[in-house]
Amino acid sequence: MTIKRVGVVGFGLMGSGIAQVCAQSGYDTVVREVAQPLLEKGFGRVDSSLARIVKGGKMTEDDAKAARGRMRGTTNLEDLKDCDLIIEAVVEQMDAKKEVFGTLDRVCPETTIFASNTSSLTIVEMAATTKRADRFAGLHFFNPAPIMPLVEIVRALTTSDATIATLREFVTSLGKTGVVCKDSPGFIVNRLMVPSLLGAIRALEQGVATVEEIDTAVKLGLRHPMGPFELIDYTGLDINLHVANVFFDEFKDPAVAPPALLKRMVLAGRLGQKVGRGFYEYDEKGQKKPPSTPTR
Ligand code: CAA
Repeated sequence: MTIKRVGVVGFGLMGSGIAQVCAQSGYDTVVREVAQPLLEKGFGRVDSSLARIVKGGKMTEDDAKAARGRMRGTTNLEDLKDCDLIIEAVVEQMDAKKEVFGTLDRVCPETTIFASNTSSLTIVEMAATTKRADRFAGLHFFNPAPIMPLVEIVRALTTSDATIATLREFVTSLGKTGVVCKDSPGFIVNRLMVPSLLGAIRALEQGVATVEEIDTAVKLGLRHPMGPFELIDYTGLDINLHVANVFFDEFKDPAVAPPALLKRMVLAGRLGQKVGRGFYEYDEKGQKKPPSTPTR
């Protein structure tokens, strides 16, 4: 089937990046948030991301305007009923996702493909609550979605070959590379990445080195673009804690148990860059401030 119109549910960090990428690639894109101020915040994020791309010379101002013109916001899920593909990017809570898909299943024609951008929840559990488990898959984008070239295409037990073929074509049309993987915790990237991020927190807890020293070591010793603590702050401590809990629940492996420090920092509200404080502190523009005391 050919995708023409895409719906994105959730206009946070991931949802806004995903919607922007779809609109940039020529798709009419409808985004749904629960309230108007959240829609405005999401569009603000899209505008500044498009401006960055234009400034870098990778897009003309006219093309950025055209992409923005292909995006429409709504607070009503029913406005997504004409979409050929709907990508869900709401909070990482199974009940919230099931509720969204339950409503969409009632209002959308049976041809509409549903996809979740979850980074750790089980796709088949969402698919099974709809009447279209064969037209249901995971589409896992990476932050920042406008820049990161990978999308994991997650095949649930129930996903049909035709759905996977359509999603492969769709991901390619976004200028991204798709890899198909099984519906297992963390898929490919998080399965490999999260244990190493948790290992960095444990190294910090055990006094191996400071936050800055560990980040420097990983950036210069492994040529990673960000150190583990920069990356945890960037993706959100709450998200990393959630993924660690899902992994531990599934694998019962102490290597993926959430470190005590991560739990305490989430309890303290130090969720990372989005709130101005995680392992580092950030100014109002999201720029990292120099550390005042060594974080051990
Ligand atoms: N929108 C548009 N452009 C953006 C952007 C955004 N949100 N973020 C960065 N850019 C652009 C910049 O404008 C810049 O463009 P030019 O080269 O044209 O100047 C380019 O990207 C590089 O950015 P910077 O110079 O600001 O900084 P950088 O070189 O350090 O790159 C980065 C920033 C792309 C984020 C890079 O640090 C990086 O790749 N980090 C790793 C990110 C990563 O690992 N993401 C995966 C997280 S895991 C996940 O998302 C899954 C999950 O389930 C948790």
